Amino acid sequence: MRLVPVWALRPGMKVARRVSRGNGAPLLNAGVKLEMEYIQQLKKLNVRAVYIHDNLIPDIEIEDVILDQTREKAIYLVNNTMNSLKEDDHKKLSSLFLAKKELSSLLDDIVTQLLSNKNLTVNLSDIRCTDDYTFSHSVNVAVLSIMTGISMGISKSELKDIGLGAFLHDLGKVVVPLSILNKPDRLEEDERLEIERHPVYGINLVKGRHLFNGPIFSIIHKHHERIDGSGYPQGLQGHDLDLYPKVCAVADVYDALVSDRPYRQGFKPHEAMEIMDSECGGYDLQVMQKFYHHLAAYPIGTIVGLNNGYIGVVVSNTHGYPYLPRVRIICEREYFAPLESFEIDLLDTMNVAVDRVYNDHELPGDLLNREPS
Ligand SMILES: [Fe+2]
Repeated sequence: MRLVPVWALRPGMKVARRVSRGNGAPLLNAGVKLEMEYIQQLKKLNVRAVYIHDNLIPDIEIEDVILDQTREKAIYLVNNTMNSLKEDDHKKLSSLFLAKKELSSLLDDIVTQLLSNKNLTVNLSDIRCTDDYTFSHSVNVAVLSIMTGISMGISKSELKDIGLGAFLHDLGKVVVPLSILNKPDRLEEDERLEIERHPVYGINLVKGRHLFNGPIFSIIHKHHERIDGSGYPQGLQGHDLDLYPKVCAVADVYDALVSDRPYRQGFKPHEAMEIMDSECGGYDLQVMQKFYHHLAAYPIGTIVGLNNGYIGVVVSNTHGYPYLPRVRIICEREYFAPLESFEIDLLDTMNVAVDRVYNDHELPGDLLNREPS
């Protein structure tokens, strides 16, 4: 199974993982054989790539770090919670009360699932349409923040606080007009300032309700603050920031970078990591280090060029070593001459490294062997 760009999809290929709308509703289920009209629909909805049962690594499955149904339920609940905030005051309070109960109970499942394997690596891209981005993004941020919190050794109840805060971190965006949030062009100054008010809008929506504790307020209010003082809304510095918003900030930025947005395509994980490295003055370095433990710069299925003259496809990654995948060699680099398949684990070799990532269109089509199975 491998992530295949939509332009390379052909009728007859079999979908390996479900494609959803941003609110969690299914668009294409796993197991469906593609037809031309489905492919056109994917293009129309700006879906960039789809997981396909391919012939390059047919034996490799890519697992999510939490169960699919848990993720879908989380997106549904975050969606409901944020929409209920648009209701009148009385309804809003009862909705928030219910949302807190349901999200807390779901967080028990998520934390338990993530604690059952502390060495998880994120290999899966979140394939969703760019509509309703905030809901799936909030769930991703919660999962990534909890994983980071686990690596930092924090307690289960603190992990649940981080998760709840991350689920709700962007709730102030319900006040910001969608025309600004989804604007495909460059934002005007007043539009940028309006978006930058969402942490304050978020706090105003939940304050005085006696529903949420300090850590959750802190995440909603401070997840865009940076330890070098370059963030917003208050321009706080490191010593003013507690651990929770610092964890959430790293997860938030990473997921935003790898996600497709109306104004740009998502970056590849290794590109997002490079961007974050270049901005590292804004993030807590210990948090970033622990966060990186769970990342794969080259997720399973990525076609990589190695500095020993081979091209291969990533078949696994090891927790704690984001730049050292195991690679199944498919050809040599100069003429793309196919090679008898063998694997190199970069963890076991001192002098071999990835120095390039290939897009599908950069390799001969017959090499990728994308015939439907
Ligand atoms: Fe935000």
